[in-house]
Formats: sequence, structure tokens, C-alpha cells
Amino acid sequence: MTTTSDFESMGALVTGGASGIGAAVAAMLLARGARVAVLDRDTAGAPAGALAVEADVTDDDAVREAVDRAAAELGALHTVVSNAGIGSIGTVEDNADDEWTRVLDINVLGMVRTARHALPHLRRAAAARPGAVSITQTCSIAATAGLPQRALYSASKGAVLSLTLAMAADHVREGIRVNCVNPGTADTPWIGRLLGRADDPDAERAALNARQPLGRLVSADEVAAAIVYLASPAAASVTGTALAVDGGMQGLRLRPAGG
Ligand SMILES: NC(=O)c1ccc[n+]([C@@H]2O[C@H](COP(=O)([O-])OP(=O)(O)OC[C@H]3O[C@@H](n4cnc5c(N)ncnc54)[C@H](O)[C@@H]3O)[C@@H](O)[C@H]2O)c1
Repeated sequence: MTTTSDFESMGALVTGGASGIGAAVAAMLLARGARVAVLDRDTAGAPAGALAVEADVTDDDAVREAVDRAAAELGALHTVVSNAGIGSIGTVEDNADDEWTRVLDINVLGMVRTARHALPHLRRAAAARPGAVSITQTCSIAATAGLPQRALYSASKGAVLSLTLAMAADHVREGIRVNCVNPGTADTPWIGRLLGRADDPDAERAALNARQPLGRLVSADEVAAAIVYLASPAAASVTGTALAVDGGMQGLRLRPAGG
């Protein structure tokens, strides 16, 4: 049974943990008893009680130093939540090669670097505590549904989905579970920035709400709850899974309202 202290004596690292979904995950893990480090390029928004380690996930040396420091200061690393990511708007004609390189560097290679440097620590933890050790990556509905104006972002999240499955296969016999969550549009500072750039922010928000069968955006806490479940000992048999938290956007096909 899940308790409020099911992460007791576990160490957790959350990338992009100073804002939005990552900050909600870090706060929830702290509330559930974990020792938590937040890796972010700007740690100002990291929740109180978390160890803040500033690093950019595009810098391999910085990620290695941050992960090693987190593991040393937390005592062990059982949980990695690889969540740092950025958006990108446009069709395949709109983004130049350097923008493709920049976004893939953060959204895909950032997760590769984080996992690469965390794995030695996770292996040590798995030997002592089988079932409790995991990597959970933040993917997106954009990996599984064709969304307009998201060619580059979708390609990056499609890669995260495939990477999750491959990593799950590679590390299952080491006792390290690997899963991802696929949020629909989530009400985070990211979406605030997106709406801020829209010609008519209210109309844009209404369109985003209407796109999800539940009729609203999902919250950062709802996505965090799914991530924390996947990371928890209660999910000891769950690996190679993509858990949608998308208000029904992937799975449902509704008739128009009133139809
Ligand atoms: N908000 C949504 O609608 C939505 C939907 C699906 C998936 N996601 C995914 O959720 C994750 C978090 O998004 P959010 O909405 O909470 O965004 P956010 O902008 O609120 O938070 C992202 C965090 O990542 C950090 N970050 C960005 N680039 C970084 C880098 N190079 N190195 C280190 N840290 C970096 C930022 O500083 C920030 O703290 C992302 O991977 C995003 O793709 C978001």
C-alpha cells in the first residue's frame, strides 16, 4: 500500500525541477519522504528542502558533476526524473538546422547525458533495493499524436518515447525500471509563455482546453502524481511503459458536443 513515506531513505534527482511539472514532482517526492536534488539551468524556483544543483543538460561535464554531487549529498540515487525540456513551434519548413540541433540537444541528448551519468549510481542502489530504482522521462502527447506546428518538438518527443523503451530493455536485468509519462497540454509557466505570445491568449487557451476531451488543461500536479507513481516501489513491476496524462486526448474519439 502507498504511504506518505514510501520514498523514505530514497534519493531522487529531478531535472528541470525548478519550474512547472518538474517542480511539482520535486515537491511531491519531498512530501513522500525522499531526499531530492533539483538539476536545472536556473534553480531559483526549486522547492524548499531540495538540494539545488545548477547545470545545463547540454553540457556533459556539468551534468556528470551535478549528478555525482547529488548522489554524494543525498547518500544514494534511487530515482531519476528526466524532465528538462523546451518547446519549438513550426512546420518542417520553419526551423533551421541549428534550431533542430539545439532542441534535440536539450530534449533528447539531455536525457541521454542524465541517464549515462546516473546509471552507475542507480546500479549501486538497485543492488541494495530491487524494485525501487527507476528512471522516468517526461515525454508528450506529441510523441503519439500528430499536432500541427510541432514538427521539431514532436520529433524530439518521439525520440524520447523510443529511447525509453530501449533503455527499459537494456537495464531491466540490472533492476532499473525505465518509463515515461505523456502529458497533454499542461498548465505550467511554459504554456503561460505560449499564451503570452498568442494574438488572442483567451481564444488560444479556449482552443487548447477544447482539444482535450476533459475540456481543460491537465495540471502539473496531475502529471507529477503519475511520475511519482512510476518512480515508487508500488510500480515495481512497471517498466517500458508510456503513461498518458492527457485528459483523454490520445485515446478518445468524441462526437462534437451535442452530437
Ligand atoms: N507544459 C506542457 O503542456 C507539456 C506537455 C507535454 C510535455 N511537457 C514536457 O514537460 C517537461 C517540463 O515542462 P514544463 O511545462 O514544466 O516547462 P517549464 O518551462 O515550466 O519547466 C522546464 C524546466 O526545465 C528547465 N530547463 C530547460 N532547458 C534546460 C537545460 N538546457 N538544462 C537544464 N534545465 C533546463 C527550465 O529552466 C525549467 O525549469 C518538458 O520536457 C516538456 O517537454 C510539457
